[in-house]
Amino acid sequence: MKGIVSDEIRGYMEHSSWIRKMFEEGIELKKKYGDANVYDFSLGNPDLPPPTQVKKVLADITANVDKPFSLGYMPNAGLPSTRAALAEKVSREQGVEIPASKLIITCGAAGGLNCVFRAILQPGDEVVCPAPYFVEYGFYAGNYGGKLVSVPSNQDDFSLDIEGFRGALNEKTRAVIINSPNNPTGRIYTEEELNRLAEVLKEQSAKNERPILLISDEPYRFLNFDGVEIPSLFQLYDASVVIGSFSKNLSLAGERIGYIAAAPNFPDAQVFMAAVTMTNRILGFVNAPILGQEIINQCTDCEVDMNRYRVRRDLMAQVLSDAGMEYYLPPGAFYFFPKSPIEDDVEFVRMLVAERILAVPGRGFGMAGHIRLAFCVNEKTITDAAESFKRAMNAAKG
Ligand SMILES: Cc1ncc(COP(=O)(O)O)c(C=O)c1O
Repeated sequence: MKGIVSDEIRGYMEHSSWIRKMFEEGIELKKKYGDANVYDFSLGNPDLPPPTQVKKVLADITANVDKPFSLGYMPNAGLPSTRAALAEKVSREQGVEIPASKLIITCGAAGGLNCVFRAILQPGDEVVCPAPYFVEYGFYAGNYGGKLVSVPSNQDDFSLDIEGFRGALNEKTRAVIINSPNNPTGRIYTEEELNRLAEVLKEQSAKNERPILLISDEPYRFLNFDGVEIPSLFQLYDASVVIGSFSKNLSLAGERIGYIAAAPNFPDAQVFMAAVTMTNRILGFVNAPILGQEIINQCTDCEVDMNRYRVRRDLMAQVLSDAGMEYYLPPGAFYFFPKSPIEDDVEFVRMLVAERILAVPGRGFGMAGHIRLAFCVNEKTITDAAESFKRAMNAAKG
């Protein structure tokens, strides 16, 4: 008898993500050695507590929960007050005015990306992104028959290969997705490289006789360490959307709250916003969670203590340098993407596991020969791992 599960999903499950594999490996190691003796850098799950204001808002919600519709359905685009508060925040970040009508609330950035892809993709359409990339992009595009095409970034500093993009764009390209600060590299794209990318997109859009959408996935916007500016995409390219999230800046990853905001001169904006409002509904999200919307309504300007992440980044840099690893110092987000000392990154990850370190092979992000280390873990885990990193490096060098 044939199985109930589709061939496609069965295939996905068989080649399940490296992050997932590490997660499972981690459970086994922790059972054997105890949590404190396993150095788990495999997951981007923020460990800092949410800001105290979040607790206060939740207490207020609890006090009012007996009112009718206090937790009811709402417009599919989200609470009007939350949309307005976020539109103001995005306007400040982008340096241009965005009305609330150009912003909808979604179930995290992941939900937002799915709403956008559902609204624009038809089977066979292509979405282009720089590699390495957040592995879920391929699944999200695939959900609607789209195909993810990646353009390797320059190896030294993970800057965009603009000519690579020019070569990858064609009549099937419906969107380009960038992620800055980047997971897994921490790279923040400069205004100059985004400008050059925008020029290439404009040229291909003219050939295609329809705009290619530029999607900027920005869950890590708040995490830039060395005063590096995050440029305004809305001022560079009209057919652009920003997808934001509160998973990381408020440590609310489990509450699933984010947004899609469109540029002020977005072409046919009304139709696009109506389309993503509709896909938010028909994908089964209906509307983003009410608790999250109430929280961000009153915590628009709050964030976790990002200095803690800076301290951790610097500690991690020291540990990796001491072990003799080659890496790009991330100016943003909470990941390192160092070079594997041997060609086979999976083999090196195995050597790290032998030292009770959990990391993800770079090939899981579309760029082999590297590993990803997430430093959203306590400082002690980073410093305690120092000797293990050294031993794994010695083993790799033979
Ligand atoms: C680059 C990137 N995009 C999107 C997401 C999904 O974020 P959210 O929790 O807001 O759905 C993540 C989560 O780790 C991410 O790293």
